[in-house]
Amino acid sequence: MSTALLVEGLRKCYGAVVAVDDVGFDVAEGEIFGLIGPNGSGKTTTAECAQALRRPDSGRVRVFGVDPHEQRGAVRRLIGSQLQESTLPDRITVGEAVHLFASLAPDPVDEPGLIAEWGLSAKRGAAFSSLSGGQRQRLFVALALVSRPRLVFLDEMTTGLDPAARREAWRLIERVRADGATIVLVTHFMDEVERLCDRVAVLVNGRIVEVDTPAGLIERRGGGSVVRLSAPAALDTGGLRALPGVADVTCHDGVIEVRGSARSVTALGHWLVVRGYGDTGLRVSQGSLEDAYLSLVAAAREES
Ligand SMILES: Nc1ncnc2c1ncn2[C@@H]1O[C@H](COP(=O)(O)OP(=O)(O)OP(=O)(O)O)[C@@H](O)[C@H]1O
Ligand SMILES: [Mg+2]
Repeated sequence: MSTALLVEGLRKCYGAVVAVDDVGFDVAEGEIFGLIGPNGSGKTTTAECAQALRRPDSGRVRVFGVDPHEQRGAVRRLIGSQLQESTLPDRITVGEAVHLFASLAPDPVDEPGLIAEWGLSAKRGAAFSSLSGGQRQRLFVALALVSRPRLVFLDEMTTGLDPAARREAWRLIERVRADGATIVLVTHFMDEVERLCDRVAVLVNGRIVEVDTPAGLIERRGGGSVVRLSAPAALDTGGLRALPGVADVTCHDGVIEVRGSARSVTALGHWLVVRGYGDTGLRVSQGSLEDAYLSLVAAAREES
């Protein structure tokens, strides 16, 4: 599988503000790659430098092997882009905007089909200024896809969309990927990351602190599984700590909490049974991606 996007040693400052510092990652063709991180952590700057919309102070970007700053025209034809901050002239209609973008593309998608997919058929003749926030957002995503891009950047694609529209957007994005596109998705929604992203990079203060699959992040950073049980008086918590996959054991108010990988749950169950602790009211829950993300961000902020 070839590399759709390569970013190496990217650095971008705005005056004294270091927005992005030594950021590097690669995105394989056909992958959905997430960029997540707190407000102001450099996600949009990274995405815009990768698209040659901003010139980095240093670092290397390659889009399908091509330097987008050197061969702007060629690379622009490969990229579809929904920006976090976009606008259109007030009086342009939905149909005209899609037609305008389609007329610039060598092999555009079917215009009415695209408008229908993004739930805008009833607004085809409506002026941009009359659209609601969510309708504008859907139009911008549709415009990013009109040229059948091979690499799509979506910066907060579903911000402002209602729950049904969000799910529909996910389904459509999965289809765009199934048709062969590579997608870079900037988002604050962890359910979106879990549903769509093959891998995700976490940015904190302009630096990447982790790149992993969503499941890998949960496993390693979210504590994975959490087992709670009522503590029999004689139970040896040191023995629990030594079990395979166990990351942490805490005990308060007679309740023991064991955090660890999925493996720790089976090891713990076995350990309890062979010691005759049958009735401990054991409950298992799964750490969420949001837990993992928050703990990762907190740890990175403490270190910096
Ligand atoms: N045009 C600009 N001029 C000056 N500073 C900027 C500019 N754009 C971004 N910054 C600063 O660069 C840093 C990174 O901003 P960026 O927009 O890349 O963050 P982000 O991760 O996309 O945030 P958000 O989640 O809020 O969209 C921030 O400190 C921001 O204030
Ligand atoms: Mg942003």
